[in-house]
Order: sequence, then C-alpha cells, then structure tokens
Amino acid sequence: MGTERGPGKPAGNETGRRTGNERKSRVKFFVDTAEVDEIRELAATGLVDGVTTNPSLVAKSGRDFLEVLREICELVPGPVSAEVTATEAEAMIAEGRHLAAIAPNVAIKVPLTWDGLKACRALSDEGTTVNVTLCFSAAQALLAAKAGASFVSPFVGRLDDIGQDGMKLIEDIRLIYDNYPDTLETEILVASVRHPMHVVEAARLGADVATVPPKVLRQLAHHPLTDKGLDAFLADWRKTGQTIVGG
Ligand code: G3P
Repeated sequence: MGTERGPGKPAGNETGRRTGNERKSRVKFFVDTAEVDEIRELAATGLVDGVTTNPSLVAKSGRDFLEVLREICELVPGPVSAEVTATEAEAMIAEGRHLAAIAPNVAIKVPLTWDGLKACRALSDEGTTVNVTLCFSAAQALLAAKAGASFVSPFVGRLDDIGQDGMKLIEDIRLIYDNYPDTLETEILVASVRHPMHVVEAARLGADVATVPPKVLRQLAHHPLTDKGLDAFLADWRKTGQTIVGG
C-alpha cells in the first residue's frame, strides 16, 4: 500500500516503518447505526466486524438505549461501541462500568476531552475496551493512545465539512502510531464516513477499521459495469436455454 501524499509510504519503504504485514490488524468494517434491523441484515453477509452507536443514532432509533444495545451485542460478535453521556470523569466511569456489564463485546465510547481521557485510562486499566470518539487532530489521537484507548475515532466527514482534509488526519495518525509500535497500540477507527472513497482511502492509508453507515456499506459493492456485465452474461446464457441445477 502506498500513498502519493509524500512521507508515510508504508509498504517495504526505506524509512524502516512497519509494512502492512507487520501491523497486527486486518481491515475491519463496523456499521455506524443503532437500527437493529439494518444490523441484522448486514451482519448476515459476514462482512460486519462490529457496530458503533452514538447518542444521536440512538435518539434517531427512538428506542430504549440499553435494550437496543443488548440486541445489537447478540447480533454481532465484534465490538459494539456505546457512548457515555456524562461529561465528568467519575460519572463517565460509572456509566462505562454499567454499559460494559451488559455484554462482553461492549466497547465504551468516551469523548476526546480531558475528562474523557481520564475515564479512558481508568476503564482501560480495568480491562474495558474503550473507543475515544470526536477526534479531530493528531495531537488528540496521541493523547487517546497514551490513555490506553483500544480505538480512536477521527471524524473525517465533519473535517471535510469545514474544508479540512479528513483523510490527511488519518495519514498523520497512522504515521505517528507507526513510529511507536510497541507503546501506541490504539487502532484507528475511521468515523463520520460519508461515501465509498472515504473507505478506500482509509484502507490505502492503513487504517484498522472504518465505521460505515449502512447505505455506504452497500454502495461499496456497487459498480455500474458489474451490473452491465452481469446483464450481458445472463442475456447470453438465457439464449442457451440451459440451467445449471435441475437441468
Ligand atoms: O460515528 C460517528 C458518526 O456517526 C458521525 O457521523 O455523519 O454525523 O458526521 P456524521
């Protein structure tokens, strides 16, 4: 994998940085929604490695948070991010412990604030998976890793919204984390994904996870030439009058 954005070209380059093989992760897709029916349908494809929710997505579902969380945790084996709504560290830790007790695959989402970092450290030290969210700078991502976060969630779409380059942030975080492979073990979870190119760029830059709205996950599979090619194949096949099974 390489990028045309200058330094940070990982694969086998002369900088001695780790190549894709040395990095432990495999590319993962999380679904970014609290809609249980969507998750059930997408999880059946076997392409879903986890789920991320946030207070806005839970509010949009119109359902009880803890009930929805329990259902989602039964549908996907991987991490299911559930966000605290307290803003003080002690209250965040209490909420985090309560949410983590719901299922073993719950990951606690805390905001990238000073109190959030304190809560991250405390919960991580207790062995809880923590996803530090609302990340918008490389400096913030460095602190999240130092606080023991399992995941950091940079919001690329919201940076693009204000004319900043969201994927450049992913490149910077990847470069920084790769400089300290033994101490910074946080996975980069690309969030606020708006379109398929965010996912492609995330993979090109070596991000560990992309959390994707259901609509964008389905768009990833779509290509007009695939549809056109399949139509042509099937039209030709129909002319043969044959069937493969039950001929
Ligand atoms: O996971 C965060 C994500 O839900 C925010 O996305 O599209 O509201 O910026 P968006």
